[in-house]
Amino acid sequence: MSRPTLQLKKLEGKVAIITGRASGIGEATARLFSTHGARVVIADIQDEKGQKVAESIGSNTCSYVHCDVADEQKVLAMVEWTLKTHGQLDIMFANAGIVSQSDQTVLDLDFSQLHHLFAINVDGVAACVKHAARAMVSQGIKGSIVCTASTFGSSGGQIRTDYHMSKHAVLGLMRCTGKQLGEHGIRVNSVSPSAAVTPMVCNQFKITAEEAEEVCQLSSLKGKALKANNVADAVLFLASDDSSCITGQDLLVDGGSR
Ligand SMILES: NC(=O)c1ccc[n+]([C@@H]2O[C@H](COP(=O)([O-])OP(=O)(O)OC[C@H]3O[C@@H](n4cnc5c(N)ncnc54)[C@H](O)[C@@H]3O)[C@@H](O)[C@H]2O)c1
Repeated sequence: MSRPTLQLKKLEGKVAIITGRASGIGEATARLFSTHGARVVIADIQDEKGQKVAESIGSNTCSYVHCDVADEQKVLAMVEWTLKTHGQLDIMFANAGIVSQSDQTVLDLDFSQLHHLFAINVDGVAACVKHAARAMVSQGIKGSIVCTASTFGSSGGQIRTDYHMSKHAVLGLMRCTGKQLGEHGIRVNSVSPSAAVTPMVCNQFKITAEEAEEVCQLSSLKGKALKANNVADAVLFLASDDSSCITGQDLLVDGGSR
């Protein structure tokens, strides 16, 4: 029997890409990954915010790249930049996403809105998984890929049809790629938060962060609101060797609400 060891830095020596990390869950995860020893490349379209987050984490461990995940060539370029700069890619957190532009039901489904949302929430995640996996396979790296889905990915909703559809698609992608990439030792999982206190929720409901704490109360864990750092903890688990035998799984981060 080997003695238990306390591993304080769970990502020492690893290189991670995090998309959609100028704020919210991506930002919290980037900070957590950095404290666990990873070199982190953050990718977003909000350049000023992204640069500021990278600078505040520290230029020796964190860099910002502009990348619109809806453009596959930009995703490929971001992965190539990471390999050129850091020599490897161990973790992809495909997290960038947007909410519906309107509260439409199927009766007034707007296809231009749907295609725009799918380009980011579905094509963007698929491009990140594809190019991270290709880089890992070509380097023989047994990496970890984590996608951000949502509790809405496994339930229907009265409104925001396109958003619900997109998160169902992320789960389908994760489950397929979890099976396909196992032979290369690459794991693919997802996190599914319920409503969390992030700029996305504040902007959507036009409320302050304090008001969002009310909206994001976990119904089954009284007195607790879901925050970005709670989701980041779950992502760290899936990204690190703590979950080395877990793949093709969706980890609900919802306080047991469902
Ligand atoms: N906050 C919640 O309640 C909640 C719940 C479940 C799932 N999610 C999911 O979590 C993820 C992160 O959301 P968040 O709550 O942190 O929101 P957020 O708005 O704070 O962060 C999303 C980030 O994605 C970036 N982004 C948007 N379009 C992009 C593009 N084309 N290319 C690159 N980056 C782009 C934004 O600039 C932003 O920084 C999303 O996928 C969202 O659907 C959020």
